[in-house]
Amino acid sequence: MPKKIVVIPGDGIGKEITDSAVAVLKKIDNKYKIDLEFSYYDAGGAAYDKFKKPLPEETLNAAKNSAAVLFGAVGGDKWDNVAPELRPEKAILGLRKELGLYANLRPVKTIDALIKYSPLKSDIVRGTDIVIVRELIGGIYFGEKCEREKYKGTERAWDLENYSIPEVDRIVRLAIKIAEGRRKKVTSVDKANVLATSRLWRRTTAKIAGEYPMVKLENMYVDNCAMQLAINPTAFDVIVTGNLFGDILSDEAAVLGGSIGLMPSASIGEHTSLFEPIHGSAPDIAGRGIANPLGTILSAAMLLRYSLHEEAAACDIEAAVDEVLAAGYRTADLFTAGFKKVNTFEMTQAVIGLIK
Ligand code: NAI
Ligand code: MG
Repeated sequence: MPKKIVVIPGDGIGKEITDSAVAVLKKIDNKYKIDLEFSYYDAGGAAYDKFKKPLPEETLNAAKNSAAVLFGAVGGDKWDNVAPELRPEKAILGLRKELGLYANLRPVKTIDALIKYSPLKSDIVRGTDIVIVRELIGGIYFGEKCEREKYKGTERAWDLENYSIPEVDRIVRLAIKIAEGRRKKVTSVDKANVLATSRLWRRTTAKIAGEYPMVKLENMYVDNCAMQLAINPTAFDVIVTGNLFGDILSDEAAVLGGSIGLMPSASIGEHTSLFEPIHGSAPDIAGRGIANPLGTILSAAMLLRYSLHEEAAACDIEAAVDEVLAAGYRTADLFTAGFKKVNTFEMTQAVIGLIK
């Protein structure tokens, strides 16, 4: 049975970078005989232009019935004046909700050849290899909220944070399973000294961790975690946390490696998962063939690992990316004198050439 991959290029550089990732996946399929089948669907501004909605039914149904979704990026100034509920970015929220994408995984791995781009000192950041597991469809972002109400003679607003035990259970289990395949350490991040939801989070986490004695569980307050990421990032293996803390910490961690153009991500659903680079549609460079495709290519590696359980194939892609960077290939975003300047196509071919 072919494994159906739904490709959603989206807007801006989305087509260029998903074309690259699909080319790499085709080469991998040739080598590992996975039997991949690709089909293309619209979302974001591209879908709005054709169908007057950012997430057509057809796209959603195809995504639901696929083995995995490879997503480029959506958005751009062209749709600035579109009604808020029809904006391109709504496609991402719709997919999250409809596919039940409950966990966002962001690996942060420093690549030796790029260490000088890191804002941290090389000896601190070298060897960093973290996976941040962020809860994605619960917590304060999705709780009840009030934009304005009268309160003690003035006005106030509020957002309600809530987590249930099953919500914490499934994401902590996922984090532990990821850690089992890595260095077997999970850092659960909360604010249990202040927040009731954090105390439930901590209780639930401790109970689940008891079932997995091979994995070491550590609890850390979010303020301390923000500091530790900057002063001792190599101490982390897998970090698991709620939606709000995860949003902030994952962006802090994303800059450690020094280049946002090569950061991949996975959003894990109960049935189908979605894979995309963390950057946006980069309208400023779209259509010129110069975008860095490596974040999307590494997202394709995550697709192989988490949706198709093709670990060797995933590692093959990651090793090829390390190698092209070590060999000095650089797209414009990372280029400095002395390196080999390449465009999107040439970078992709360089990666493909190393998959033998
Ligand atoms: P952006 O990530 O698209 O671009 C920021 C800067 O980084 C730009 O200068 C861009 O040229 C550069 N850049 C980004 N990816 C690159 C790559 N692969 N290679 C080379 N350079 C790259 O963020 P920005 O400008 O804030 O947003 C642009 C649009 O993308 C907006 O409409 C925004 O809403 C949307 N967006 C979409 C996301 C998604 O689809 N998941 C995520 C973030 C933003
Ligand atoms: Mg964010």
